[in-house]
Amino acid sequence: MPLTLSRTDLVRSANFIAGQWTAAASTAVLHVTDPATGAVIIAVPDSGAAEARAAIEAAHAAFPAWRKVPAKQRAAIIKRWNDLVLAHQDDLGTLISLEQGKPLAEGKGEVAYAAGYIEWFAEEATRMNGEVIPAPVPGRRMFALKEPVGVVAAITPWNFPAAMIARKIAPALAAGCTVVCKPAEDTPLTSLALVLLAHEAGVPAGVLNIVTASREKTPEVVDVWLGDARVRKITFTGSTPVGKHLARRSADTLKKLSLELGGNAPFIVFEDADVDAAVDGFMAAKFRNGGQTCVCPNRVFVHAKVHEEFATKLTARVSALKVGPASDPASQIGPMINDRAVEKIERHVQDAVARGAKVLTGAKRLTELGATYYAPTVLTGADSSMACACEETFGPVAPLTVFTHEAEVIAAANDTPFGLAAYFYSNDARRIWRVAELLETGIVGVNEGAISAEAAPFGGVKESGYGREGSTHGLEDYLHTKYVCQGLLD
Ligand code: SIN
Repeated sequence: MPLTLSRTDLVRSANFIAGQWTAAASTAVLHVTDPATGAVIIAVPDSGAAEARAAIEAAHAAFPAWRKVPAKQRAAIIKRWNDLVLAHQDDLGTLISLEQGKPLAEGKGEVAYAAGYIEWFAEEATRMNGEVIPAPVPGRRMFALKEPVGVVAAITPWNFPAAMIARKIAPALAAGCTVVCKPAEDTPLTSLALVLLAHEAGVPAGVLNIVTASREKTPEVVDVWLGDARVRKITFTGSTPVGKHLARRSADTLKKLSLELGGNAPFIVFEDADVDAAVDGFMAAKFRNGGQTCVCPNRVFVHAKVHEEFATKLTARVSALKVGPASDPASQIGPMINDRAVEKIERHVQDAVARGAKVLTGAKRLTELGATYYAPTVLTGADSSMACACEETFGPVAPLTVFTHEAEVIAAANDTPFGLAAYFYSNDARRIWRVAELLETGIVGVNEGAISAEAAPFGGVKESGYGREGSTHGLEDYLHTKYVCQGLLD
């Protein structure tokens, strides 16, 4: 069954700058491919400095008018965007599956997830209240006003091509900021379609601009944005090395930053856990998007008393996962995003096995399906010396490690520079609060594997970055506080 769209004009192959679909100055193109087969879907502009500058000009020019639009009116436009996204859920889900590879049901699910953020921030737009501060001396009134930071540069990843655009751009628009965006080179089509729908919803020309670029040309685009003082904020989801580069380079103009970077999430199953619930939670957390999420468990610590039961039950569930193309309704895991991704997974598994891990299931490419398919894998006997414990595997691999003491497992869980998400299963109320507080992460799932939600603050600590997305904190990141003091009163 091929993946087809009912509204074919959602597929765009140009940049969107100042309200116009525009080709890049050069004829260079970026080929967007189906990760399952490598077949070219379409070519989009391989933009450079000229397009990056044009996008800033447009966003900068549009800012004074957009920030003055009453919050209620901005909210109505963003709400219409949400309605259009939901009205095109099937087409957008299909586009996601086509360029990203996740099964179609998951692609459509991501559209609903993305719309959740758009709706949430449409509603929050009208609640950006400031403060009236009791003055310490007579004759004065003191206020704290919330103002949009200005032009925002959003650099988005390939693993959630709709949701990450939504949770960066919706709060920016709600706050009254204007945006220049560069979507991931692997998945620009969903982003372009979302921008088209935002335009149809009434987002004025210049408020939202998007330029596409290849991996090679991306630094040229981003360097322009980093160097331009008119860009007041960078929001980025991606790797920690790139996040650090953005932090260093934006220091010259002291831009505000939201960095949602790499993770290395521990998943801990204590001896008092409900093991069946832990297996369910693990399946939800780990195999969403084929293990290609920043919050998916990367290291699995299981107490010695329940290790055998957990490993047996988990292996049965993982072996039963159906791997296949996005178009097959039975597929639960699609292809990995590209060859480099599969090579990394392969390297991690080979390294673990060479260092003594045992394969319970998987541990091979599924070449009969295509070069980018990898079998969901469970390993046991993993330890901290292995690459899969130190680096984010970003694939369907579960390396299990046995532990016996709470203090030992907390030390192991925190023994990483990263701190995005952590999960644990326990039925002991005192332990639950103790462990939740000791884990050095921005997010903790307790007896729960599906933790992401538009109303919750998403983000990390340590080298997983700073800033929050979603929730009221996610709007705050696009605002600054202005103190106004009025005298000569009374
Ligand atoms: C991510 O992997 O970066 C986002 C995952 C999520 O939103 O749950």
